[in-house]
Amino acid sequence: MELNRRTVIAGAAAAGAASVAGTAWGGTAHASSRGRGRPVRELFGRLADGTRVDRWTLENGGTRMGVLSYGGIVHSLEVPDRRGRYANISLGLRTLEEYVASSPYFGALIGRYGNRIGKGTFTLDGTRYQLSVNDGENSLHGGAQGFDKRVWDVEPFTRGSDVGLHLYYTSVDGEMGYPGTLRTKVTYTLTRHGDWRVDYEAVTDRPTVVNLTSHVYWNLAGEGSGSIVDHELSIAASRYTPVDAGLIPTGELAKVAGTPFDFRRAKPVGRDIRTAHQQLLYGQGFDHNWVLDKGITARPEHAATLRDPASGRTLRIATNEPGLQFYSGNFLDGTLVGSGGRVYRQGDGLCLETQHFPDSPNRPSFPSTVLRPGETYRTTTVHSFGT
Ligand code: BGC
Repeated sequence: MELNRRTVIAGAAAAGAASVAGTAWGGTAHASSRGRGRPVRELFGRLADGTRVDRWTLENGGTRMGVLSYGGIVHSLEVPDRRGRYANISLGLRTLEEYVASSPYFGALIGRYGNRIGKGTFTLDGTRYQLSVNDGENSLHGGAQGFDKRVWDVEPFTRGSDVGLHLYYTSVDGEMGYPGTLRTKVTYTLTRHGDWRVDYEAVTDRPTVVNLTSHVYWNLAGEGSGSIVDHELSIAASRYTPVDAGLIPTGELAKVAGTPFDFRRAKPVGRDIRTAHQQLLYGQGFDHNWVLDKGITARPEHAATLRDPASGRTLRIATNEPGLQFYSGNFLDGTLVGSGGRVYRQGDGLCLETQHFPDSPNRPSFPSTVLRPGETYRTTTVHSFGT
């Protein structure tokens, strides 16, 4: 087992020897003005039942981030542009109340199963399970109360030149319809190079399915600054998984060559987004899983690069996962005010979610997402920032 914080605590407990400051987040709070600092905790808000939610700030290697104990949400992620000017490149909301009321998974940890499971049902070892259905007839991102809506137990650390947070959550047997008590540990590390590394671990006491990911919406020009259509994206994938009208994979691994889905060489996100292609109509833009050419790897390997030509900021993503969901923020519709006070409209941020393929529990031909007692689920994704 291992995992720890006493083999993953259910529910939230007050975290160690950290300083507490302020009340609700009102702008910039940095772990330190420069370099590496101990993670700092402040109160972000309280849930209706009184549960405390913290906002942690971390800084290392020129990257600063704010993380909420609610949903493990990346509340802000600040990096410099080519002239050294900082901007928050991750979409978010201002208050806990707004996150609870209506967040399209801004910055959140996603579990127990990232993306969709068709009709919210699957059969494992001869038993059929019915999951929480929250997206038409399908189950999306773990169901109505996924890991994004749970309070995680947070433990800060500094280790060598790294700083970070361990986040723990125990999902009980039957939660959202999933079998098995799943003990989950996610580690956010900021390295001395300013990379943000995410390590996911989980163990179960009954056979279950697991597919954990992170749902940051990126805008490398700064959140609230407008559309990401001019960002240049490359994805190291020759195939993707086409979907039906409900965004469930058909099972086919289609070639990207000659289609709008060809991101093998960097191109602006907006270049082909208005092509009259059935798949783009289904997604109202890009909302698909790319089959990474490297496949499942023992260590994180290159998956995608995003670049904003205006600011010069770049993001490189490496993972040991076989898939990448590229979602071009199609369902942002001008009804939410972001953390910087500006309204988010369609395409104002994009997600690059490393994962196993959607609906894998119903697709024996896809890489398996089954986790059995005695096994440890382990995946890693590294986000590297540059100019
Ligand atoms: C999905 C979208 C969904 C979005 C939720 C993405 O991961 O692929 O279809 O609307 O999450 O905001």
